[in-house]
Parts: sequence; C-alpha cells; structure tokens
Amino acid sequence: MSDLNPITQEAADAAVTAALAAFAAATSVAELKTARGEHAGDGSAIAALNAQMRAVPQDQKAATGKLMGQARGRIEGAYKGREAELAAAEAAAKLLAETVDVTAAPVRSRTGSRHPLTQLQDEISDVFIGMGWEIAEGPELEHEWFNFDALGFDPDHPARAMQDTFFVDPAERHLVMRTHTSPVQIRSLLGEGLTSTELPVYVVAPGRTYRTDELDATHTPVFSQVEGIAIDRGLTMAHLRGTLEHFARQMFGEEAKIRLRPNFFPFTEPSAEMDVWQPHAKGGARWVEWGGCGMVDPKVLAAAGIDAEEFQGFAFGMGIERTLQFRHDLSDMRDMVEGDIRFNRQFGGLV
Ligand code: DAH
Repeated sequence: MSDLNPITQEAADAAVTAALAAFAAATSVAELKTARGEHAGDGSAIAALNAQMRAVPQDQKAATGKLMGQARGRIEGAYKGREAELAAAEAAAKLLAETVDVTAAPVRSRTGSRHPLTQLQDEISDVFIGMGWEIAEGPELEHEWFNFDALGFDPDHPARAMQDTFFVDPAERHLVMRTHTSPVQIRSLLGEGLTSTELPVYVVAPGRTYRTDELDATHTPVFSQVEGIAIDRGLTMAHLRGTLEHFARQMFGEEAKIRLRPNFFPFTEPSAEMDVWQPHAKGGARWVEWGGCGMVDPKVLAAAGIDAEEFQGFAFGMGIERTLQFRHDLSDMRDMVEGDIRFNRQFGGLV
C-alpha cells in the first residue's frame, strides 16, 4: 500500500484488538453495549478510519475497502459472540435466583378450626339424614307458647320449674331464650321449614339452648341439644327404641346399648329417661344419663291440629355437650365453651 493511504493494516488491527479486548472485559450485556458504542459507534477508532475512505487513492479503494470490511466484520462478530455468552449467563443466573425449593416446608397460616360441637352436630345430622330424616331449625329466642304451653307445660305446671328459664323483657311479649329444642317439635308439626307440610314427619333439630345455670365443670348456661320427632301411622315404642339404639351405636360404637327408665315429661306419655352404656369410661364401665324420650302426648298432636286417632309419634332430646363428653371422656365442660383453639384442634376439623 502506498504511504498516501491513511488507512493501514496496523491501524485497523489496533482498532479491532482494542474492541475485542473491551468486549471480552464486559461482564454484562449492558456493559457490552457501552463497549460497542465506544469501539464501533460514531467517534470510535474504526469509524474514524472508515471516514478516511474518501482519501484513499482510487487504485487502492477496493483493497482498503476489503480491509475495512474485514475489520468491521471481526468487531461485529466478536460483539455477537460475546453478547450470546453474556445473555446466556444472565439467563442462567436469573433462573438460579428464581429457583423454588419444592421440598422446603411451607409456611402455613392456620385460619382456625371448626368447633368440636359444630362437628358433632353435623355428624349427628348425617346419621339421621342417612335414615331419611329431615333437619329443622327453630329460633333461639322463642315464644313461651312454643317453649312451654304447646308442650303441655301450663303456666302453673310444676314442670316449668324443672327448666330455669331466661325470660326476656318486656314480660308481656312472653319471649324466652329456649330452654330446650323441644319447641322445634311443634314448629315441625306445623310444617315450618320442611319440604312438605304433609305427614308423616321425621325431623331432627340440633341447636343451642339456654338455662340459668352457673358455668362449672358439669353445667353451662348456653348448651346445645338435638331433638327428634317422628309422626306416622302405627309408630310404637319399639320404633323409638330401635332409632335410639342405632343413634347410640353411631355415636359411641357398635358395643353401645341404651336403656329406658320411666320418667315424666309433660309432652310425652309414656316418657322415659334414656341411659347409654359406656364400656370404656375412665372409671370403669357404667350407665350414663343421655337424654329424655317418649311417645308424643296426644295433647301435643292436638295443639298442632293432628288427628291423634290416626297418627302416633315418638320424640327424644339429648345434650350435645354430654354426647361429646361421653365420647371423649372429657371431665370439664368449660373446655367446650372457652374457645381455646388448642382444645378445639384436638378434634381435627381444620379449615
Ligand atoms: N326437652 C327435654 C329436656 O330438655 C328432653 C326431652 C325429653 C326431649 C323427652 C324429648 C322428649 O323430645 O320426648 O329435658
């Protein structure tokens, strides 16, 4: 090449070498782009050389053009190669940073658990649904007529004193916190909340009940009961007994058995107290009182406008707290009402 040619192989090589070194030194795609600006962009050594092409003598233009083309090609090639390397490294680093350890123990937030009484209430409902019964509910704030009168407790009937009642002001409205679930019997006989108002009726009604008891190991002023009532043609005490025996087995296991002892309730005749056999109680096998039952008194059927000549019925009611207590040998009823999550969780039912 003639000395008049301002573009030399050395100058081109120097520009290429500097560019390649800068690209190799770049540690990120961003740095690489900056290096490209410096070594291939406007104002770079290679751009400055390129600008000299106009001064190249005509006879050397082709050769010099080729030289410049090769130099620019090497710079561009080096850039592309390094860019691919750095982009791959960055993608790998990102994947690594975002790795999720699927074997790590998750941080669980426990939202709570269903109360054992609620679980038991559902379980009881399921037993009766399994026999084709319907579930009914009644109000906890109840009219005295449903809670007492319709069930045969006259105003001066001594049996009213059996149930220590929360009366609600004003007295002339005759409202009480229901003392038992038996008023739902009357509501059901009147067809309330049922799919059909036609007889026969087979209804079970779990729910909360209230009495003026002090809270201690064996009493709570707010408790719950489950009531059952069946009205059909030809029902006898044998049907009552069979139903209760099945229910007891579902609650307490196959060994469970019941016994009936004569008693008095104003809404059943005959009436019985029902005991259940606990073969594995802490203090040894024993009978425990579980609830009341009987054949529905014709007076009650009459109160609901049912012909007692044609239809008979049986009814029963027992405490759900007592049921839970017997099933799990719980000694203190207060555990069931205090709401300590550690007690509740022992029964499962996490939500
Ligand atoms: N309601 C009664 C109580 O709380 C229990 C009871 C007894 C319910 C006899 C009944 C029954 O349905 O037939 O003591």
